[in-house]
Amino acid sequence: MEINLSSITLRPFRLSDAEDLMSYAGDEQVTRNLRWKTMTTKDEAVTFLKDVCIPHPWRRSICIEDRSIGFISVFPWSGDDSHKADIGYAIAPKYWGQGITTEAIKTAVPQVFKDFPHLLRLQAFAYSENKASQRVLEKAGFQREGLLRKYGYIKGEIIDLVVYSFLSTD
Ligand SMILES: CC(C)(COP(=O)(O)OP(=O)(O)OC[C@H]1O[C@@H](n2cnc3c(N)ncnc32)[C@H](O)[C@@H]1OP(=O)(O)O)[C@@H](O)C(=O)NCCC(=O)NCCS
Repeated sequence: MEINLSSITLRPFRLSDAEDLMSYAGDEQVTRNLRWKTMTTKDEAVTFLKDVCIPHPWRRSICIEDRSIGFISVFPWSGDDSHKADIGYAIAPKYWGQGITTEAIKTAVPQVFKDFPHLLRLQAFAYSENKASQRVLEKAGFQREGLLRKYGYIKGEIIDLVVYSFLSTD
């Protein structure tokens, strides 16, 4: 199914997204690159939407025809570090490789700088083996800054991460 990129929209999550959320949060091909536990029931998805997605400072559902196929999250730092924020994302495997995440990030970046006017730096950390994620960041205009060796912890493993940034002045 070829998707018209202009039909991709971003919106806050709703409880009614539970079933659609399972198409990515319930898939290990997706969750193995995230800190998320793989969801197995719709109840878990509802709880996650209620406790995490809806109250989140900036989490958007990536949608096609208003149905959730993925997410973008932005975690602003606080206090003396409030000039920066981390960005994370994923989409359901059946939509991979069509430029959807790149398009969604390109849409999200100006919105994030508008919603957090004091923000100077948006940063992303990709698992060094996650070439698709690194490519997405490059295509969306992020700059590769380097390799952080033994920096991240994911699913019981200490991993190397590649760090990227997009500045408000870029
Ligand atoms: C990473 C992810 C978000 C990419 O989404 P997507 O919508 O398929 O991304 P896009 O189609 O916009 O771009 C993917 C790019 O990676 C490339 N790519 C895919 N797999 C690759 C691989 N193994 N090696 C090199 N490049 C690869 C694609 O060819 C494409 O680049 P191109 O347009 O130059 O051909 C998706 O795979 C995903 O949800 N993965 C699981 C969660 C995840 O890893 N999140 C990021 C955590 S940092």
